[in-house]
Amino acid sequence: MSSVFVTRRIPEEGVTVLKTAGHDVTVSEKDGVLTRDELLAALKAKPYDAVLCLLTDKIDGDVFDAAPSVKMFANYAVGFDNVAIDEAKKRGIVVTNTPDVLTDTVAEHTIALMLAITSRIAEGDRFTRAGKYEGWAPLMLLGTDVKGKTLGLLGAGRIGQRVAAIAHHGLGMSVIYYDIKQNPDIEKSCDAEFHPTIEEILKKADVVTVHVPLLDATRGLINAERLGMMKKTAYLVNTARGPIVDEAALVGALKNNVIKGAALDVYEKEPSLAPGLSALENVVITPHIASASIETRAAMAEVAAHSIVDYFAGAQVQHRVA
Ligand code: GLV
Ligand code: GLV
Repeated sequence: MSSVFVTRRIPEEGVTVLKTAGHDVTVSEKDGVLTRDELLAALKAKPYDAVLCLLTDKIDGDVFDAAPSVKMFANYAVGFDNVAIDEAKKRGIVVTNTPDVLTDTVAEHTIALMLAITSRIAEGDRFTRAGKYEGWAPLMLLGTDVKGKTLGLLGAGRIGQRVAAIAHHGLGMSVIYYDIKQNPDIEKSCDAEFHPTIEEILKKADVVTVHVPLLDATRGLINAERLGMMKKTAYLVNTARGPIVDEAALVGALKNNVIKGAALDVYEKEPSLAPGLSALENVVITPHIASASIETRAAMAEVAAHSIVDYFAGAQVQHRVA
């Protein structure tokens, strides 16, 4: 039996998987993210064997030092930029993530955000609630069609590929993509065209959607200069990680009509928003909920828990990132 610390309440399914396998589970009782000090103190309270952590927990060398008995961290997210992966590898600590189960859900949210900005859904909702709707009008709140337009993917991994499939087969968009490597699958399944530079995507796409991980190489990837390469009529969608986009530059671009609009689920300094962002009409903002369906959040909990169970059973651990 191993002892597992879960840093915040997650869907019960995950805890059930751990308990059924005979593990001793402690779930943080705080209704919120543990502060740095609280996390370190919680980990020192007991010699845990594993931690099920969240993307809001920064897991680095200090955390590893505070919890020398912990052999693995199962991160409840597909993204793992919150974990010091090199440091974990150096110490032989296992780290896992939760890919695949959230791909469809995140892709659906991405498409929902795209249509929300192009069809002015959130803006129309605000307008109607504010009592400003005084009757049908031929020129009221005109949006933009996506059919026949070009979707530009930055990143053609699992999520990008699913977004492309819905956009191409469901909405009649053509797809162009940039990735560090060419993806023959997306070319076959979505007739997608590869471009070896980000700039070509930015210049050609009517909607640019970001699906790369946050790495040193992708931090600030979409900056003022690159926003300036986009069409004035284009939209930016980001459901990946906030720091990939320079948010202050984006606010400037949206204010000055450098691009037409943006739809975001992630922010540079979550939960804070860049000054001025939420005052803009030409942006749709959701609070990092792209994977937040009942089904998917339960599945993520099960995947994370199974990684821990497999590790302590001596079985092959799926989804290892360290
Ligand atoms: C959510 O942002 C995730 O990485 O799973
Ligand atoms: C993440 O799961 C991705 O590959 O897009």
